[in-house]
Amino acid sequence: MVSGPRCPPGLWGLLALLLPLPGARGTCDSPPRLHFAELPGVVNNSYPVGTKLKYSCRPGYILSSGKSPFVTCLENSKWSVEAEFCEGRRCKPLELENGRADITDLRFGARANFSCDEGYRLIGQTSAQCVIVGNGVDWDTEVPLCQAIPCRPPPDITQGSHNGQSGEEFSFGSAVTYKCDPGLSLIGEASIHCTTKDHFNGEWSGPAPECKVVKCPEPEVKNGRKQSGFGPDYSYGNAVIFACDSGYTLHGSSSVRCEANNSWIPSLPTCLEPTLNTTPNGPKESPGLNTGTVIAIGVVIGLFVAGGFVAIVTYKACFGKKGPYEANQRFSDLQERGKKTNSGLERKDAYHSCSADS
Ligand SMILES: *[C@@H]1O[C@H](CO)[C@@H](O)[C@H](O)[C@H]1NC(C)=O
Ligand SMILES: *[C@@H]1O[C@H](CO)[C@@H](O)[C@H](O)[C@H]1NC(C)=O
Ligand SMILES: *[C@@H]1O[C@H](CO)[C@@H](O)[C@H](O)[C@H]1NC(C)=O
Repeated sequence: MVSGPRCPPGLWGLLALLLPLPGARGTCDSPPRLHFAELPGVVNNSYPVGTKLKYSCRPGYILSSGKSPFVTCLENSKWSVEAEFCEGRRCKPLELENGRADITDLRFGARANFSCDEGYRLIGQTSAQCVIVGNGVDWDTEVPLCQAIPCRPPPDITQGSHNGQSGEEFSFGSAVTYKCDPGLSLIGEASIHCTTKDHFNGEWSGPAPECKVVKCPEPEVKNGRKQSGFGPDYSYGNAVIFACDSGYTLHGSSSVRCEANNSWIPSLPTCLEPTLNTTPNGPKESPGLNTGTVIAIGVVIGLFVAGGFVAIVTYKACFGKKGPYEANQRFSDLQERGKKTNSGLERKDAYHSCSADS
């Protein structure tokens, strides 16, 4: 540009006359470029006040109802332009069976995203856009297909069958149940269903079960007896619960199950002979009872008489004001209660009461 001081005075007025400067009084600049409409023909740089021009909607757009496509050059050198007087043409609504078409808008330019419901897979494009087609608009792709995820037919097994029909098509959610020929045990899950991990390929929820003969040996526990599961034959899944004879202690699991490999799981328990237990394991803390309180909790002294072997299972603890103390065991104080146990042995539960602090 020419800098001020070098210009001779008087040239300024001349320049103002010669150059139709933008925004000069009495004219408007070229009208605005709009993304939804255009002016037909050549667009001039300057228009006199009062000029009225008519836009036409661009392809994909249509004149909004009640809006005017005309603009006028106003006295203030601005164009009167209505906002968004053309709107995008609408594509037809989309529907996807067994799936969803996510659309925020149906207008020209809008995008639809497709997804299938659980258990269905999408065949086709995952999205579509509303584009110009001919004189109007339409989606640029076909609506995809949501197809039920298929599974291969369930496996066949020897010595058993499943309830699927021959020629049946298996798809997500289909289930079949197996059964074994008579006399055989079904090992595994009887029913399997068609599922999917990758949301595209179907697979069965697990392997087919197996059919086989299972026979566990008669379970016997020395010095113990069955409480449930009396046989006489034991096949897959049968359970037996054991209890020890009176005075004997059970080691292991009281309950066992006949497994597919013809053995008891876990292994059979054992019944251990009674032992003399003199370890005091009574209450360790005083609940704050006063001296002389009759101690209702008592001290339990088990007296087991088993075929000449006498075990005195005992601990003694009493409460006094100084806390727990050992009480003298006085057999004269014992209140004995005899009981016949179901193994025929006599069992005596003895209760000992404490005397006051001494
Ligand atoms: C644009 O300018 C040309 C001359 O340069 C003129 O003939 C024409 O009428 C003008 N158009 C409008 C719309 O004013
Ligand atoms: C479609 O998906 C695109 C990309 O994942 C995302 O930006 C757009 O918001 C989605 N549109 C709709 C309508 O869900
Ligand atoms: C039988 O199978 C169980 C698992 O089910 C296993 O722990 C056990 O060792 C097997 N027993 C034999 C004798 O194979």
